[in-house]
Amino acid sequence: MSVHIAAQKGEIAKTVLQPGDPLRAKYIVENFMEDVRLVSQTRNIFYYTGLYKGREVSVGASGMGAPSIGIYSYELYTEYDVDTIIRIGTCGAYTPELKVFDVLNVENAASESTYAKFAWGIEEEILSHQGNVFSVINDTARNLSLDLKTTNIHTSDIFYRKNPGTPEIAVKHNCTAVEMEAFALFANAQYLGKNAATLLTVSDIIPTGEFISADMREKALTPMIELALETAIS
Ligand code: ADE
Repeated sequence: MSVHIAAQKGEIAKTVLQPGDPLRAKYIVENFMEDVRLVSQTRNIFYYTGLYKGREVSVGASGMGAPSIGIYSYELYTEYDVDTIIRIGTCGAYTPELKVFDVLNVENAASESTYAKFAWGIEEEILSHQGNVFSVINDTARNLSLDLKTTNIHTSDIFYRKNPGTPEIAVKHNCTAVEMEAFALFANAQYLGKNAATLLTVSDIIPTGEFISADMREKALTPMIELALETAIS
C-alpha cells in the first residue's frame, strides 16, 4: 500500500496506462482486457491489473491536474517499481489545423506550473517525454497504420480563463494543444529516471468551439487506447 493507492506490492504491472478519469480506466479494462482485478479504489481512483493479449498491464486514473498526477505517478514509480507510465488523455487544440479525433504523441510539455521547480528543483518551463516509450509509440503507430502527430503541448493549471486567446507560453513553445497533466508526469519521470509518455486525443478545438460530444468520447478514444495497449506489450 502507498499513501493513495491500496494495491499490495506486486499487484501493479511494470507498465501503467493512466487516463485522467477513473471510469475511463474501468471502460478500458472491461472492453479491451481479460482476467482483470481491481487492485485499488481509494478515493474512487480505480487501479486495475489484467491481461492484454496475454501480457500483464495495469490501468489506473491520474485524476485532474498536476497535483493529482504528481501524487499517483510518484507513488507508482517509487512504491510499486513501475517503469513506464503512458498517460492517455484528451486535449483542447489551440489551432484549427488540428481536428477533433486527432491523436497526438507529446514531445514536450510547457507549463507555467511551479510543480517541477518546487518538487525537484527542475527550473525548465518545458520538459520532454522521458525514456524510449515515445519512440516505441511512434513505431507502434506506424505498424498499426495509425495517423499519429508528434507535437509540443501546454500543460495548464487553468481550464476556465478570462482571455480566450492562446497563452503566451504556448505561443513561445509552439504548443498546438492544451491539457493539464503531462508536465508533472514528465517532471516526476525525469527526476526518478523513469519512462513517461503522453498520448492525447483532441476533444475540442478552442478557436472554433467545436467539440466531441460526451456520448461520442469513449468511441473516439479507441485508436489511442489500442495504441497505448499495443505499446505496453511491445
Ligand atoms: N482537456 C480537454 N480539453 C481541454 C481544454 N480545453 N483545456 C484544458 N484541458 C483540456
